[in-house]
Amino acid sequence: MKKEKINVALVGLGGHGVTIRNAIKMCTKLNVTACYDINKELIDETKAEFNCDGFLNYEELLEKSISNAVIISTPNFLHFEQAWKALQFGKDVFVEKPITVKVEEAEKILKLAQEKNLIVQVGHNTRKRKVFRKAKEIIETGLIGKIIFVESNISMSTGLAEFPEWKKNKDKCPLLPMTQLGIHFIDTLIYLFGDIKEVSSFARNAYLDVEDSVVTLLKFSNGIIGTLSSSYVAPNVYEMKIYGTEGVIKCYLNKIEVQKTTEINPNVYLFDEDIESYVEELCEFAECIINRIKPEVDAEIGLKNLKVVEAIIESYITKKAVKV
Ligand SMILES: NC(=O)c1ccc[n+]([C@@H]2O[C@H](COP(=O)([O-])OP(=O)(O)OC[C@H]3O[C@@H](n4cnc5c(N)ncnc54)[C@H](O)[C@@H]3O)[C@@H](O)[C@H]2O)c1
Repeated sequence: MKKEKINVALVGLGGHGVTIRNAIKMCTKLNVTACYDINKELIDETKAEFNCDGFLNYEELLEKSISNAVIISTPNFLHFEQAWKALQFGKDVFVEKPITVKVEEAEKILKLAQEKNLIVQVGHNTRKRKVFRKAKEIIETGLIGKIIFVESNISMSTGLAEFPEWKKNKDKCPLLPMTQLGIHFIDTLIYLFGDIKEVSSFARNAYLDVEDSVVTLLKFSNGIIGTLSSSYVAPNVYEMKIYGTEGVIKCYLNKIEVQKTTEINPNVYLFDEDIESYVEELCEFAECIINRIKPEVDAEIGLKNLKVVEAIIESYITKKAVKV
């Protein structure tokens, strides 16, 4: 008989880990049995929240906890080692985006997961947001005709307000906003329009000592062209504009405007969305473990998204267009 509930361990409990903790309470098939962080206060808080075991040492959690799976929401540069170790211990893995910092690391994770027949799901929740599910549906009805080009910009919700130091460190988070934020839209653009085959990028240090603003031109395999911008400087920009032969779709965080060329006013769809996309991806993780099926965003897709980021970085460094 199939298991009804999956025992999971939470790895990384603060920052985005708080969203994960809130979302997981709505997944009836996940049972938090253990947690790990380097911050003791967060461990105590999470232990009380889920009545679970707490660990200050990752290897000890992997050895001693009764969890079948881990949910990793730590800084990006820790993903590879933590996911790798969990797979070695025979645990299924949910890891936040990006899957790892380097393509070669993601390739190793994919290979190990395949060898061990384990699930790796990557936390690209953006494509699961109601606006992008709706945008895909509208595009597929042909309402705005053939898609010609797309403009997109995803920038830090808090602008230059305080955020963790690792997000400003080029080794830990290469081409900073593009790795940290832009990758959300890279996944979503590929979900909507198929593979990206070529990129050409510019970046600048507007306020920080490192690149805080990146603009990239994109060419998709099916001929669509587009732009993706991402910045730590301009606060709270979240928009994707999709131009077709018969109209335009403008996507924002909780709103879509659909404007047919023949109509004066756009149709506006409003979505009341909070943590639903996170709940959906975590519930999906449970189903994938129970039924041993591939998640919508698996290691292969996580790797594909990261390859686009690496091409963007190479293009910026070499000042040339780069094929993905
Ligand atoms: N899907 C999304 O919408 C979304 C949003 C924000 C962040 N993220 C991702 O979540 C991850 C965490 O980002 P964040 O902003 O929460 O970072 P953060 O720096 O706030 O760290 C998160 C947690 O990891 C813990 N941590 C740090 N080093 C650790 C270690 N060695 N072992 C165990 N725990 C450790 C910290 O104490 C903290 O509790 C990143 O991969 C980021 O890309 C995803």
